[in-house]
Amino acid sequence: MNPLHWPVRMHIASLGVSKFCFLFSLAFCGLLLLLIPVLQPPARQVDLPQPRPQVRPHHVRVPGVSVHAGETDSATEPNMSSAGQGRSIETDGTRNDIHSPKRGMDSKMGALPGGKGGRFSGSRSRDLLEFKDIFIAVKTTRKYHKSRLELLIQTWVSQAKEQTYIFTDGEDKELRMRTGANIINTNCSAAHTRQALCCKMSVEYDKFIESQKKWFCHVDDDNYVILPSLLRLLSSYHHSQDVYLGRPSLDHPIEAAERVKSDGSVSVKFWFATGGAGFCISRGLALKMSPWASLGNFISTAERIRLPDDCTIGYIIEALLEVTLTHTHLFHSHLENLQKLPTDTVLEQVTLSFGGFKNRRNVVSIVGGFSLAEDPTRFKTVHCLLYPDTNWCPKLQHRHTN
Ligand SMILES: *[C@@H]1O[C@H](CO)[C@@H](O)[C@H](O)[C@H]1NC(C)=O
Repeated sequence: MNPLHWPVRMHIASLGVSKFCFLFSLAFCGLLLLLIPVLQPPARQVDLPQPRPQVRPHHVRVPGVSVHAGETDSATEPNMSSAGQGRSIETDGTRNDIHSPKRGMDSKMGALPGGKGGRFSGSRSRDLLEFKDIFIAVKTTRKYHKSRLELLIQTWVSQAKEQTYIFTDGEDKELRMRTGANIINTNCSAAHTRQALCCKMSVEYDKFIESQKKWFCHVDDDNYVILPSLLRLLSSYHHSQDVYLGRPSLDHPIEAAERVKSDGSVSVKFWFATGGAGFCISRGLALKMSPWASLGNFISTAERIRLPDDCTIGYIIEALLEVTLTHTHLFHSHLENLQKLPTDTVLEQVTLSFGGFKNRRNVVSIVGGFSLAEDPTRFKTVHCLLYPDTNWCPKLQHRHTN
């Protein structure tokens, strides 16, 4: 027998009275051990910012005709009829754009912060921004890889290869190998439904958060991004501010029925930036969106209002986080009349688009090295005016825009 044990056993045995006390304290300690997890403060999720308390989103900010969009089940924007009317928003006087220091400037066509020529180091500059700080998400689908995506990769994407991410719904190793583009297969459905579009936006959001970049910009596969203008525009804000920049596609906030519980819904009004023209979100704001946007939460948030992806972004930012959309008309979708854009301001816009070859040719009016037949979208012409040294651009041509 180990002699060391002997006195202990003797000790316990000899103190018969304390036997009960000993067992009692043993039980007490056990109880304490069990209680430790209960008494500790609740564990926090490390990755996600804490959701803000649910704010009542159904306050009415701007009176106006409302679209009852609750029934909208298709992925098309519920606003075709009012495309191009957005300019009247600037005069309604009811907006409180604290995040838009130069709102009067950048909301007018052709008037960019910093003016022409890519300067952005003036005293107004808020953020020493570089191209590599911007995450540009391009949303596309397998059937447009040839007809749309190749053109983008050949033009503006070639100038921003590192920070442009193409979100699609089908494998295309050949395109990836040949162009070296960042092509991400979202594995979302290729159907043009609300669910499929929200699925892609959800992947875009997660990839942006992962990237650590300062700005998230989303565009479609029919957009040309004028990179110097984009950099200039974003440089006038700070990525840690709450900034949501884009073109409203309605001249009034959208009204949606928000499903609260299984039994009822309340009406909610908010502005949103039309996805077809592109929009940008600062990292600071994107992080606050996390409880409703990250890791698949975006899809359940979209189900709450049953609206497309771009509306859901507006819902999270304007209705849930109470951050206002900074209206800008430097972003353009195919839903507006692009021919109306003054020729001498085209290169100062942030995004361009093209529309419907079938019905009517809706493209920006700009003249350069390519005829309409050679360059039906005008994207090559725009590109050669911006980057005349590109090897496929016509050499020593008149590079005047009018
Ligand atoms: C899509 O599926 C492939 C194969 O299962 C996988 O490797 C890839 O990570 C998935 N993409 C996303 C964005 O989840």
